[in-house]
Amino acid sequence: MSEIKAAITAVHGYVPDHVLSNADLEKMVDTNDEWIKSRTGVSERRILKEGASSDLGVEAVKGLCEKRGIDPSEIDMLICATATPDMLFPATANIIMDKIGAVNAFGYDVMAACSGFLYATVTASKYIESGSHKKIVVVGADKMSSIVDYTDRTTCILFGDGAGAILLEPTEDGDGVIDSVLRSDGSGRDHLYQKAGGSLYPATHETIDNKEHFIYQSGQAVFKFAVTKMADVAEEVMKRNNLTGDDIAWLVPHQANRRILEAAANRIDLDIDKVMININKFGNTTNGTIPLCLWEWESKLKKGDNLIMATFGGGFTWGSIYLKWAYDN
Ligand code: UT7
Repeated sequence: MSEIKAAITAVHGYVPDHVLSNADLEKMVDTNDEWIKSRTGVSERRILKEGASSDLGVEAVKGLCEKRGIDPSEIDMLICATATPDMLFPATANIIMDKIGAVNAFGYDVMAACSGFLYATVTASKYIESGSHKKIVVVGADKMSSIVDYTDRTTCILFGDGAGAILLEPTEDGDGVIDSVLRSDGSGRDHLYQKAGGSLYPATHETIDNKEHFIYQSGQAVFKFAVTKMADVAEEVMKRNNLTGDDIAWLVPHQANRRILEAAANRIDLDIDKVMININKFGNTTNGTIPLCLWEWESKLKKGDNLIMATFGGGFTWGSIYLKWAYDN
């Protein structure tokens, strides 16, 4: 009997309408379009004016169910990867399930900064492989604008709001999630974090005055690790599956900085036109980046295509997935 694998059987994304362009940011902080584009690759990002991460997630999951032709009550599990939960608890996954009527599902949040979507996809695929669950939604949803300091030019240029979702179902025809490499190193916590609001530094007047509820990033340190580590894991998962750049249809990287994506593609010998890149339009949407890429590229994907997903984020956390795409659009 062939092995059960977790196949992506549908994908959908959602970004809010409001566009925050580089020209807009020029009016808010000391920056310029040329610097932002050349250092990051971002031209504009989307901002959710009203609502929370769950609202972004709801739109992505609703679209996913419509596309696949299923009722939300058929979902048996939903994992939400987010760095910007609606509240510390209950889980944003629970809120999304309630809003869409996923009455037969259980779920929880995965918090692994920008690697959350990838970690959650691997977790969900294990439930599918075990045979315990048949329809699992993984949604990456982040309202990054809720934790970005729009007076800090080093971070506000990077991030945007958005969500993407995938449906995982069992398959025995050889497609689906084939292999993964996941890593983390907590000593990287000093370089990228949101300091206050947790049990270490609960909210006080002082934490607010000191802007400690916003993202802090030591850009150069994170950049250095991201370039090396993201490429390391992509290379590792390819090597142990005897894959070369020629075998790969698409690299689906976390959209942190265009220069990081280019370096990763270069390391695994892949033409840049085989790399999904939408950082120019959406910026870094944290857990939304990878599923938003899949959503945008869905019409180009063919059954059996080899995809490598790769990510790096706060924690530090990083990882890579090798999967075979399971359907023609
Ligand atoms: O997704 C999670 C993981 N995150 C990442 O992977 C992000 C990794 N880091 C980065 O993408 C980059 O480090 C940044 C985009 C954050 C910064 O780019 P950089 O090339 O590393 O710039 P830098 O920090 O070395 O700064 C170079 C110069 C500095 O000026 P001086 O000291 O050379 O005079 C900065 O003050 O650019 C200045 N600068 C800016 N100038 C115009 C910093 N931000 C800006 C800005 N506009 N927005």
